[in-house]
Amino acid sequence: MAFEGKDILALKTYTREELDYILDTAQKFEGIAGGRERSNLLDGKILATAFFEPSTRTRNSSEAAMLRLGGGVIGFDSPEGTSVAKGESLEDTVKTLGQYSDVIVVRHSQIGSAHRAAEATDVPVINGGDGSNEHPTQGLLDLYTIRKEKGGIDGLKVAIAGDIKHTRSAHSLAYGLSNYKVKQYFVAPQPLQLQEEMERELVKRGVEFEKLSSITEVIDKVDVLYVTRLQEERFPNQKEAEKFRGSYTIYPRLLEKAKKEMIIMHHLPRLWEIPLEVDETPHARYFQQEFNGLVVRCALLCLVLGAIN
Ligand code: NCD
Repeated sequence: MAFEGKDILALKTYTREELDYILDTAQKFEGIAGGRERSNLLDGKILATAFFEPSTRTRNSSEAAMLRLGGGVIGFDSPEGTSVAKGESLEDTVKTLGQYSDVIVVRHSQIGSAHRAAEATDVPVINGGDGSNEHPTQGLLDLYTIRKEKGGIDGLKVAIAGDIKHTRSAHSLAYGLSNYKVKQYFVAPQPLQLQEEMERELVKRGVEFEKLSSITEVIDKVDVLYVTRLQEERFPNQKEAEKFRGSYTIYPRLLEKAKKEMIIMHHLPRLWEIPLEVDETPHARYFQQEFNGLVVRCALLCLVLGAIN
């Protein structure tokens, strides 16, 4: 399957064959990601990171993946120290980085920014999150985590809870899952529910899903509970966001009714939505997700750079 030279922009466009191929490939990188095996697969290659928005996991795991594979890293973690502060456009910034690197990871607050970046340069662009649209590498690491923890994806019931409207990783995950036989539950306060355009797309794909307002309605049914952060920075103002603070906290007592094998995932960072006590339960998998992100990003870099196929 040919990923060499390709951009990774949105899971909306991926087929099941492509997803399975990426997940199968990723599995081979567990040892390298964990530092138990040395690799020079990307010796001499350079990754550029262009982060116009804050990041802890996406940027560091992309950089760590490149370093684990013997490559190098350039770029910026905020636009302040770059010519963006002088008014340089996203396109010109990316075009410039493309002359110094072999692959670029871009994160930006605007929907469609990754697509614009990809148009501006010949090197592969990996979308590290474009506004409230998509976060495809997060979606892939989430699929990878589900498969690793559950032994497969078909036949599962997955609840995606919280700020579904604004959370890009929720969109990428739902699109990814739409390729499998999965029942999806979207659990959110009404104003933060799945938006019409995406709902129409899921219907078109024949996805089995329900929209609910309370976790209690499904906690005893689901195999995976995927919790999201209230994306306060994407609200028109703080007052609007405040209304939803604390509105979907996963209290430990809620988990008493959950299946023993149910896993809780979160793209992180988590705030009030998952209390610390939940970390100690056998359900918590969000920190494993972080490591899986490194594994998956190793595979993606090798695929788009043609180091493996
Ligand atoms: C998130 C992001 O920026 O989309 N984090 C991540 O990449 N794991 C989610 C968030 O900020 O809530």
